[in-house]
Amino acid sequence: MNQPKRYLVTSALPYANGLKHVGHLAGAYLPADIYVRYLRAQKRDVVFVCGSDEHGTAIPIQALKEKITSKEIIDKYHEICKQDFSDLSISFDIYHRTSEKLHHETARDFFTALESEGQLEIKESEQFYDEETNTFLADRFIKGTCPNCSYDSAYGDQCERCGKSLSSDELINPVSTLSGNQPIKKSTKHWYLPLNKHEEFLRHWIIKEHAADWKTNVLGQCKSWIDGGLQPRAVTRDLNWGVPVPLKEADGKVLYVWFDAPIGYISATKQWALDNNKDWQPYWKDSDTQLVHFIGKDNIVFHCIIFPIMLHLNGMILPKNVPANEFMNLEGEKMSTSRNWKIDMQDYINDFVKKENGGGQCVDMLRYYLTQIAPETKDSEFTWQGFQDAVNNELVAVFGNFVNRTLVLLHKLCNGKVPTVHTDILDEVDKKLITAIEQTVPFVQKSIEEYRFRDALFEVIDLSRKGNQYLQKKEPWIKAKQPSENGNIVESAQKEIDNTIHHCIQLCANLAILINPLLPHTSKKILHLLKVVDKLLDWQNAGKLNLLSVGYSLRAPELLFRKIEDDEIKYQIEKLKNNAQKYKPMEEEKLVTNLVPQKSTIQFDDFTKLDLRTGTIVACEKVEKADKLLKISVDLGSETRTIVSGIALHYKPEEMVGKQVIVIVNLASRKMKGIESQGMILTAEDSDGKLRLLKPENSVNPGSLVS
Ligand code: 2FM
Ligand code: ZN
Repeated sequence: MNQPKRYLVTSALPYANGLKHVGHLAGAYLPADIYVRYLRAQKRDVVFVCGSDEHGTAIPIQALKEKITSKEIIDKYHEICKQDFSDLSISFDIYHRTSEKLHHETARDFFTALESEGQLEIKESEQFYDEETNTFLADRFIKGTCPNCSYDSAYGDQCERCGKSLSSDELINPVSTLSGNQPIKKSTKHWYLPLNKHEEFLRHWIIKEHAADWKTNVLGQCKSWIDGGLQPRAVTRDLNWGVPVPLKEADGKVLYVWFDAPIGYISATKQWALDNNKDWQPYWKDSDTQLVHFIGKDNIVFHCIIFPIMLHLNGMILPKNVPANEFMNLEGEKMSTSRNWKIDMQDYINDFVKKENGGGQCVDMLRYYLTQIAPETKDSEFTWQGFQDAVNNELVAVFGNFVNRTLVLLHKLCNGKVPTVHTDILDEVDKKLITAIEQTVPFVQKSIEEYRFRDALFEVIDLSRKGNQYLQKKEPWIKAKQPSENGNIVESAQKEIDNTIHHCIQLCANLAILINPLLPHTSKKILHLLKVVDKLLDWQNAGKLNLLSVGYSLRAPELLFRKIEDDEIKYQIEKLKNNAQKYKPMEEEKLVTNLVPQKSTIQFDDFTKLDLRTGTIVACEKVEKADKLLKISVDLGSETRTIVSGIALHYKPEEMVGKQVIVIVNLASRKMKGIESQGMILTAEDSDGKLRLLKPENSVNPGSLVS
């Protein structure tokens, strides 16, 4: 097969609504970084894009929690996430933002192109509507029972337990998270992408073309979506946060976050091209570009079904592969932000990388463990004990030990210089090592190109293990002790020692090349010890046995990695448990109840139609057979009215009497439980869901006008 001319590699744009944890890192960022570093070492033309996903309901929900604006939320978390990725050496070429003007324009133009070509359908549909808050409910604002795993708190867009993407219609017993009420269905107009019209295209592209090269977990999800019957998918939403729909008749609507987010890859590429004086178009339009999306399994449908249809309709290339990972669990449980069961990247950075004995080696320790347990084919498990074992028993005891032993022996037995190789005395043990080096290279290469990073890592570590075994068999330290007349090493023994150390040094140089995509700091440190420049890391050099010239003097040995101590692990486990204990299950729910998007603008005249007056409660009693209702008599100066109010859970009848309140007096009367309610008493809902009466600051005469 012809080699692609260029590569565009993307990692899922994380929501800028909070810190990202190591599960995220292992799913979509670290594997992409390994792949890209490998391509760069191959001198291929590659652009690696990512950035913040700054739309969707996730952002205003977080704004509410932190009591700051949505804009402040995205500004804050964009910077934090960008820095955390950088601290862990994820080498994006650009980390863009979907709130940027360039992105809004790109997403808008994408929508307009589809709309003007008649690729979208407009449908009036019945959508869930919360009567109490007068709001159409985005999927995220509906909870119910997951039809897949029966979890009773699944969101309308996704089940957090089984990861299945849902639509709120699929939920059993849906409930509005805004009011806790059962929502009604109400008609609203939206633009839909008719996925069903593209079934043949998808079947051909995914199931015929990619049956052999896509991961089975990805193919399986795609197949079940297609076989399950594709439906038109709304690409607009009734929300006030996002990219406005560029049509007059769509006032107050925005593009669905999942429509605009993947377009973020395109706008990021555009910005990268602008910054680097390049043309973005070949990366998205030329068939000799290899596009690869790195994502977690919860994003498969968007990257394999919906976005490809959008790309196809807009004349752009399709992803060559979408190597989605499964999930990484933590100490026996699912990693979860809402339950605080996670290790934030930032915590690892502070507790290890930024500590005195931290730095690049600690970055690589995490990269090592996360790659070793990468959830490539099934869910995997992070444990702190596993982390310590992996670092101490493999990185330190096998890989680091081999490099260190080689340099110690070189300085002890060969004057610190690369010794000559004596080909006349090469034996089977030498040849076996040389063959192992040569054979490891294509294996690592193939593994990375097929997105099997665990296998690649295993092979590199195993090669260093073979180096240790080689040293054990050769025992140069024993040969150095053979008795001789003048106290020097016997000449024949020295020749054997030279051969052994020569091969070990060449192996160290090869290890630097092979480990570079996986553990870049380790690779750099080996280069430092070998006193060679980055150029050695060209993948073309892998497998060569003359990377270091005979006679070249090398630096004194330094350890590549420190050990992870027991008390560090103990501390982390305690910390995890303490954080989880602080989690209050109802917190998120309560906060969400307060998140009511602003209603559409009204004119001043509309406001003046309301007749608001002060009143004093003169009598109050419970309404029979209605837990929430109170029957209240309010003195309005010129008359006393009866008002029924849904406030019984928050005030006792006797507490109400004597209180001043604000009443809408010209609201059409309506019957509630057989009682005619002649107005409405104003209340405010606190973040804990409690209703509080609104009252004038100081007592005023009943019937005073409120404006
Ligand atoms: O799941 C998420 O975190 C989304 N923000 C991923 C978006 S990926 C892409 F489409 F931008
Ligand atoms: Zn589920």
